[in-house]
This record gives sequence, structure tokens and C-alpha cells, in this order.
Amino acid sequence: MTVIIQLLLGLLYIAKFATAQLVFAHWMLDEAYSFAQSDWENDMASARSIGIDGFALNMNANDYEASKLFDAYAAAATFSNPDFKLFISFDMSYTWSVSDMISIVVAHAGSPAQFQWKGDVLVSTYSGDTGSYANDAFWSGFKSGLADQGVSISLAPAFTTFRDPSLASSLLSTYPSIDGFMNWWSWPNDVLANLTTDTDVAYQSAMKQRTGPYIMAVSPWQYKDLSADQNWVEYSDTLWNYRWQQALQIKPDIVEIVTWNDYGESHYIADLNSNINIGNATYVDGQDHSPWRTVAQYYISWYKTDTQPTITEDQVVFWYRKNPKGAVCTGGVTAPPRNANFPADEVFALAMVATDATVTLDIGSSHAEFTAHGNEVSLGSVPFPAEDSQIPYFQILSSGVKVKDGYGSVYVEQTCTDYNFNPFVGMIA
Ligand SMILES: *[C@@H]1O[C@H](CO)[C@@H](O)[C@H](O)[C@H]1NC(C)=O
Ligand SMILES: *[C@@H]1O[C@H](CO)[C@@H](O)[C@H](O)[C@H]1NC(C)=O
Repeated sequence: MTVIIQLLLGLLYIAKFATAQLVFAHWMLDEAYSFAQSDWENDMASARSIGIDGFALNMNANDYEASKLFDAYAAAATFSNPDFKLFISFDMSYTWSVSDMISIVVAHAGSPAQFQWKGDVLVSTYSGDTGSYANDAFWSGFKSGLADQGVSISLAPAFTTFRDPSLASSLLSTYPSIDGFMNWWSWPNDVLANLTTDTDVAYQSAMKQRTGPYIMAVSPWQYKDLSADQNWVEYSDTLWNYRWQQALQIKPDIVEIVTWNDYGESHYIADLNSNINIGNATYVDGQDHSPWRTVAQYYISWYKTDTQPTITEDQVVFWYRKNPKGAVCTGGVTAPPRNANFPADEVFALAMVATDATVTLDIGSSHAEFTAHGNEVSLGSVPFPAEDSQIPYFQILSSGVKVKDGYGSVYVEQTCTDYNFNPFVGMIA
């Protein structure tokens, strides 16, 4: 009897270990320039409160970001953020020397906040498979240089040229040194179609031949307008809902939210923070995304526990752009973004209710309503009206009786100065 129980406990232990089901968020260190220690602690507490296990710290250069990295590790190691882990993600679209990369990893490898994958320090990247990095020698040199200093790593890079599912075997043969892989691609590829899991399925399967994690990116949106060649939007209208559902199907070892704080690409879920320099990204001003964290919290719990969470509170999270896609603006980079015709001119609403309810959506003369099912996520939308300067109004009705209601806080305007395809996100709670 005892032997059988021990055997079962052993199997349970192995099962838990084999399916990590962890959630990290991609964190842009270049946004930390003016960060105080308390900003780090607030961010970590806020991430922890929705079930995020840690941050993947995206580093562009060995400059002020190196000292910010020390601040981050110090904050995560404090008692106020127990169990909050960090790993480094080198942004290889910048120029890196292998010796700098090695000393940066070594400097933090012994921190109690360092995330380890099966006992090895996890290191990731953005890109690293183009130009002078596009060869295994670079990456094997990085790993052996670290090993010489007593640091064993699990390397799970986001090599971005590996997107086509048919290239998964070539990834393995070209890069014998990589242990795991991150699929960065969490938006449709310049098409008016929803993203599929084809890339995830192929690369997750390939990585079964390696010891490192398969990391799946989950993102809410993609829009940037920073220069003539950095001016695009990807079709993201309902992405934040269905991409999480894809993560529940795929069950990657790690979900990486892309991103916590990349304001310039409009996929941030962090609070707006006056210590952030948004530079030319004027489309971020006043465009709160924090209610998207409520959606993340629900799906994170489901992903980690394999159990659909019970909904106890009635909430509607909504998002919408400020201007119809056809509006001609004179500012910004003075051209509409690439793919400007993809997003629907609609206000989107995601309802999470305890028992069946009706959700009404009104904006100007435009009206829609849908049934929100109890204990499920339900989506609806209402088209933008033709009238100028309208604000959406939302109601949750139970058997025709209003339970909760509220307004958006940004008006939909028919005219504009700067293009803005970054949505405003709000919540009725
Ligand atoms: C994408 O999926 C949503 C549901 O999440 C659906 O309403 C929409 O029509 C789809 N878009 C396209 C272009 O197929
Ligand atoms: C903002 O845009 C101007 C004009 O295009 C450019 O000169 C400047 O470098 C940009 N600033 C930042 C922070 O990107």
C-alpha cells in the first residue's frame, strides 16, 4: 500500500514538473529609465496579483539598462514580491557582443529572483537569427562562455524568421545549441484573418526533441506610428480573447504576454505611468489598457489550473478606437498605417457574468445587445455611429433589470489630427 502511494505521489510530482504552465510578461527595460525602486515593486505586485509569475526583461543595449536590471532583480528578491522571477531576453535587433551578454547573465545568475528552467538559468531573446547572429557558432559560443564561468543556461530564443510551420525542422538542424523556443508571433501576419495555432503546433512539437521550454506569446494588439517605416496595425479586434483560448488548447510550458509595457507598439497592459517616456507615441496618451488585465487574470487561472474559473462578479471589459479607419488625419507620420482597413469600426465588449445576462451597447444612434452566458466569456460589438463626438454606454441587464452600467471615457470622433489605431480600454465593474 505505502509503496503504491509513494509511486502515485512520485507520478504526480513528475506530472507537475513536466507541465510547468507558467506565465511571464515581456518587460521593456528601456521604459525603466526614470523608474524608482517603488515603481518596480508596484509593477511586480500588480503582475503577481493577476497570476503572472515573472517578467522577461527585454534588454536593448549594455547602457543604463544594465543598472536597471540590477534594480529589477533587487526588487524581485524582496519579501514584498515572493516568488516573482525574472529572466533576461536580449533584443538582438540591436548590436551585442557575446562577452557583454555573458557578463550580464553571470551578474544575475545567482540571484534568488533568477528564473530557472529545470535547474538552468533561462535566457531568451527577441530575434538573433539574422545577420552576424544567424549561425549556431554564435549561440554555442555564448553557452560555452557561460559554462566556463559555471553558469548553465537553457536557451529559448524568439528567432523571428521561424514563423512558417514548415521551417520547424530546419530550426532544429540549423541551431543545435538552442534548448527551447519562443514563438514571438502573436498577431496575424499582415492579413485580415484571425491568427491560427499552426506555428505553435509545429514549433512546440519540434521542441519536444529538446530540453528547454516552448514559450507561446499572447498579445492583445499591435499598432505603431513612429516613423514612415514604423507605421502599421495588425488585425487585433478580438485577439486578446481568442489568443488566450488558443493558449488553453496548446498548453505551452510558458505563456509570455507580449507585452507588459511596450507602449510604442500598443500592446501594453501595464498602467499608464508618468515615469514612462512615450516619446512620439502620442497615441498612448490617456489610452488606458489596464482593464485588459482582468481578462488575463481569468485566462491565466484557467491555463494554470486546467479548470474553468467560476465567475462571481459581473464585469464588462470594452475597447474601441478613437476614430473610424477612413478618417484622414494630418499629423502623426502623415500616412494611414499599413493595414488601416483591417480593424472594424466597432466598440467591442467582453462580458464575464455570474449568471445569464443581457449586455446592451449604445453609441450615438447605434445600438446592439447580446446574451452573456453565466460563468463564461461572451463577446459582442456595436458599430460606430455616423454622428461625430459620441461616447459608448454599456449596461448589464438581468431579466430586464439594470445591474450595472457605465460609459467609455474617450469620445469617438469623425475627424482627427494624429492617426490613432491604439484602442482605449475600459471596464464596467
Ligand atoms: C475573428 O474571430 C472573431 C471571433 O473571435 C470573429 O467575430 C471574426 O469575424 C473573425 N475575423 C475574421 C476576419 O475572420
Ligand atoms: C520624433 O519624431 C521626430 C520627427 O520625425 C524625430 O526627429 C524624433 O527623433 C522622434 N523622436 C523620438 C523619440 O523618436
